[in-house]
Amino acid sequence: MGCRIAVFGTGYLGATHAACMAELGHEVIGVDVDTAKLEKLAAGEVPFYEPGLAEVLKANVDSGRVRFTTSYETAAEFADIHFIGVATPQKRGEFAADLTYVDSVVTKLAPLLTRPSVIFGKSTVPVGTAARLSEMVRRLAPVGNAAEVAWNPEFLREGFAVQDTLHPDRIVLGVDTDRRGRAEEVAREVYSDIIAEGVPFVITDLETSELVKTAANAFLATKISFINAMAEVCEAAGADVSELADAIGYDARIGRRFLNAGIGFGGGCLPKDIRAFMARAGELGANQALTFLREVDSINMRRRTKMMEMTREIAGGSLIGARVAVLGAAFKPDSDDIRDSPALNIAGQIQLQGASVAVYDPKAMENSRKLFPTLDYASDVNEACSGADVTLVLTEWDEFRRLNPADLDPIVRARRIIDGRNCLDQAKWRSSGWEYRGMGRR
Ligand code: UDX
Repeated sequence: MGCRIAVFGTGYLGATHAACMAELGHEVIGVDVDTAKLEKLAAGEVPFYEPGLAEVLKANVDSGRVRFTTSYETAAEFADIHFIGVATPQKRGEFAADLTYVDSVVTKLAPLLTRPSVIFGKSTVPVGTAARLSEMVRRLAPVGNAAEVAWNPEFLREGFAVQDTLHPDRIVLGVDTDRRGRAEEVAREVYSDIIAEGVPFVITDLETSELVKTAANAFLATKISFINAMAEVCEAAGADVSELADAIGYDARIGRRFLNAGIGFGGGCLPKDIRAFMARAGELGANQALTFLREVDSINMRRRTKMMEMTREIAGGSLIGARVAVLGAAFKPDSDDIRDSPALNIAGQIQLQGASVAVYDPKAMENSRKLFPTLDYASDVNEACSGADVTLVLTEWDEFRRLNPADLDPIVRARRIIDGRNCLDQAKWRSSGWEYRGMGRR
C-alpha cells in the first residue's frame, strides 16, 4: 500500500514530483491555484516541455493514482503527507528570494491539519525559513505539535527531471532536531524504493538541509564561472578553453562535468539562487563569506556582453542593418524554459544594437514570444538563417550540433558562425569554408 501524498505547486518541480510519487506507487493529489494548468495535468498533459514526464503523468492519471485540485480542503482531507513545491523567485529590485508562494501554502494548509501530519518543503529557500514555517504550522494547525515541518531539498535538473526524481544522487532530509518527530520515518516510507536502490539518505537539521541546496547551486555556478573566467584569459592569450577543460577535467578532484565555457548559466535556479544566498548571508552577518559569488555573477553576465561584442566584430564592426540568426532560446537544451535565458538576453542586446534578429528554438518558441514579443521568430533553422550575415548557436540542442554547413551555404548571406556553447565541430565548419568562432577558443 502506498502513502497518500499532496503536492502543492505544479510547476517544473511540483508536477514532476507528483507524477513520480505516483509512479512509485503512492496515491497523489496535486494542488495549484492555476486552473488552466490543472486542467491540462488532469488530462495527462504536461504544460511545459520535459522529456519523459508526459508518459509518466499520463499512465498515473489513467490509473487514478494522481489527480489534481485547487481545493486545500480536499487535499488536507485526503493526505497527511504534504510536499511544498512552489516557486521562490527573486524579489523585484532585490537579491532576496520572494517567499510569498511558500508562505501562502502554509497559511492556507496549516489551519486544515486536524490529524498528525508532515509537511516536507522542497522549494529552495533561504536558511532559517523551515524553522520559521515550523513555528507557524504549530501555531496555526488545530493538531498543534503533531503537525511537523521537515525540509527535503530537490536537486532535479530540467531536461532530466524524471530520472533525477526517481533515481537521485542522494536524498537529503532536514528535521527539527529539538523534537523527536515522525518526519524521518515518513520520508523513509515515501522513498523506500529509492532508498532500497542504495541511494544515500542524508539526515541533518533543518538549517543544514536548506544550505545543502544553496551550497550545491552556488558550487555549480562557481564551477561554470571559473571556466568562463579561464575562457576570458584564453581569449587574451590565444589559448583554447575547451582543450584546457578537457585537460584539467581528467583530474578526478576537478572533473570535466560543468566545465563547459560559453555564454554562461541562466534558468530559474542558479542565477536567483546565488543572489538569494548572498542576500541571506548579509542578513546573517556573514556577507563576507559570499562576496566571491558577486564575482561569479559578474563573470557570468560578462559572457553575454562578450557574445554581443563578438557578433558585432565578426559582422564588420557594426550591427546596424545586419541580419543575425539566433539558434536557441531556451536556457539549456531539452527544455522550453526561458527564465533568465542567456540566449534571449543576447538576442535582445543584439537587436538593440540595430541588427534584425531571427530566433529559432525547437521547443521554446511559445514562451519566448510571450516574454520577448519584439524579437522576430522563425519557424525553423533555414528560415532563421535566411539571408543571415552571422549565425549564432546559443543553446546546444542536438538539432544544432548536427547541422551540416553545406545545407546552410545557399541560405545564408555570409558564412560566419559563432558557437556560444562550444558545441559544434569546429574543424567541420572551418573546412567547409565557414568563419567559425567559439567562446574562449583559438
Ligand atoms: C540546476 C541544478 O543543476 C539542479 O541541481 C538544481 O536542482 C536546479 O538548478 P537546471 O537549472 O535545470 O538545474 O540547469 P543546469 O543543468 O544546472 O544548467 C544551468 C545553466 O548552466 C544552463 O544555462 C546551462 O547552459 C549552463 N551551463 C551548465 C554551462 O554554461 N556550462 C556547463 O558546463 C553546465
